[in-house]
Amino acid sequence: MNIRLWLRNGFERVERVFDAAFSPAHNPMHHLGALGWFFYWIVIVSGIYLYIFFDTGITQAFASVEYLTHEQWYVGGVMRSLHRYASDALVVVALVHLVREWAKDRYRGKRWLAWITGIPMLWFIYALGISGYWLVWDELAQYIAIGTTEWLDTLGIFGEPIARNFLDQETLTNRFFTLMVFVHILVPLLLLFVMWLHIQRNARPDVNPPRALAAGTLVMLVVLSLVTPAVSHPAADLDRIVATVNPDWFYLPVYPLLDHVPGLALWAALGIGTLLLLVFPWLPPARKQAMAVVSLANCNGCARCHADCPFNAIEMKPRSDGLAYDSEAVVDPDLCVACGICVGACPTATPHRRAGKLIPGIDLPEAPIANLRLQVLEAGARLTGPGRIIVFGCGHGPLSSASDSASVAGIRVPCSGALPPAFIDFVITRGHADGVVIAGCREGDCHHRLGVEWTQARIAARRDPYLRARVPRERLRTMWLGSSGGHELEQALSVFREHLNTLGPYERQTDREAV
Ligand code: HEM
Ligand code: SF4
Ligand code: SF4
Repeated sequence: MNIRLWLRNGFERVERVFDAAFSPAHNPMHHLGALGWFFYWIVIVSGIYLYIFFDTGITQAFASVEYLTHEQWYVGGVMRSLHRYASDALVVVALVHLVREWAKDRYRGKRWLAWITGIPMLWFIYALGISGYWLVWDELAQYIAIGTTEWLDTLGIFGEPIARNFLDQETLTNRFFTLMVFVHILVPLLLLFVMWLHIQRNARPDVNPPRALAAGTLVMLVVLSLVTPAVSHPAADLDRIVATVNPDWFYLPVYPLLDHVPGLALWAALGIGTLLLLVFPWLPPARKQAMAVVSLANCNGCARCHADCPFNAIEMKPRSDGLAYDSEAVVDPDLCVACGICVGACPTATPHRRAGKLIPGIDLPEAPIANLRLQVLEAGARLTGPGRIIVFGCGHGPLSSASDSASVAGIRVPCSGALPPAFIDFVITRGHADGVVIAGCREGDCHHRLGVEWTQARIAARRDPYLRARVPRERLRTMWLGSSGGHELEQALSVFREHLNTLGPYERQTDREAV
């Protein structure tokens, strides 16, 4: 069985339920990265508050945390609980996000950077959690301190075993404690830097969850903090053996495991696992696709492609060919994923042009716009009515499972956003079909990040190049059904066909209306 396909369908199923419960715009599964940032900031703000009251001496640390938890429960206690629960939530969203990006294949080829930076982020998150539990210096901290140092000793890299520092109360010094305080302050800064790197290849990265989602999440965490406040185990005492601890299973699963697996074997498993994850984007390598190509003779420097590219792959540079425009589009071959959204944004990608060959300012060599025009003409000639429909579908939407018929023709585009709105106009107002359907990824979950959003904005005339007002919107349907929505697409098409039948053939409007 194909695990990736199975997982992808599983995610789609869960996300459909969430779409219904939260709306696509507020679906938490569509904002896992943004929720990660949100939890990070909660951890930082609550951490700063805790640090103000925290006593960094090994003997005073426990008492200062107890004071915050019990005496100052209304702020300090809530802050402590928020700190813990937001950290737990950060691990959960990071892991689900990792699996989801893998399942949806959004990490290979030119998209490798986010994946590669995600792996050290996981290590940093764990270092942060473990050092945090250490700082409380209760029995759980004692258990972690001894477990960690013994585990590190199995590497054999220290002159003398560092676990000796935790033999009894006498040998205990502030050394490791100070180190942990340092780790707990340094690692969040490193994490922030890598989080910044993580999103460098994405234009308009989604780092802030929608307000309602953020507010709901924060309220949930505060309620959880009040109902089940985070508390400490009894104070650490190295002269006593810790009998039972209640480890945080999100952060500390490795410690109970060490009772059953040799430390060195666990290091080896983690090391190999990390290396494997690091080469994932090339296992197997993504199919090489020819990047978008600019035709300077047809580029007027309007910068719409630059504004719409989801991967920061287009820069506007001073004109190099002497034409009377200020700038020209230049594509970065290391960043372009060949999604074609720039072509959908280019005002020169219009099928209405008759003179000469159809060469827009920017085009995809593997799916040129001239071919798209040809496919539309062929489909128009083949379709028979009534209710003739042309479906423009992306490879990640439902089109792959929907079938052509006498009255329906499917035309593949690299992304819904790669379809210039002028093509919808062309199909309907020139009578190549009675209606147009755009079928793609689910709303808020575009494989190429912004294709669905830009398509919606162009149709609603909120974004250039917009669909002209003369195009009757009742002849156009968008069907954001995802790759598993083939059956729904078939059903929606037959309803749409009925609707088109009642409308009858398109009639050209008067010049006054045709704007
Ligand atoms: C604290 C943990 C993490 C945070 C806060 C985070 C945050 C983000 C954000 C904000 C985005 C951009 C979403 C968008 O605008 O489309 C993103 C994308 C991504 N992340 Fe993460 N991430 C985390 C962990 C990880 C991990 C562990 C991995 C995998 C190893 C990973 C892999 C990816 C990938 C592949 C993308 C998609 C990049 C693309 O669209 O080309 N992330 N992440
Ligand atoms: S094809 Fe996609 S990634 Fe490449 S330049 Fe165009 S919009 Fe950007
Ligand atoms: S959208 Fe087209 S015309 Fe405008 S800058 Fe880009 S390539 Fe040139």
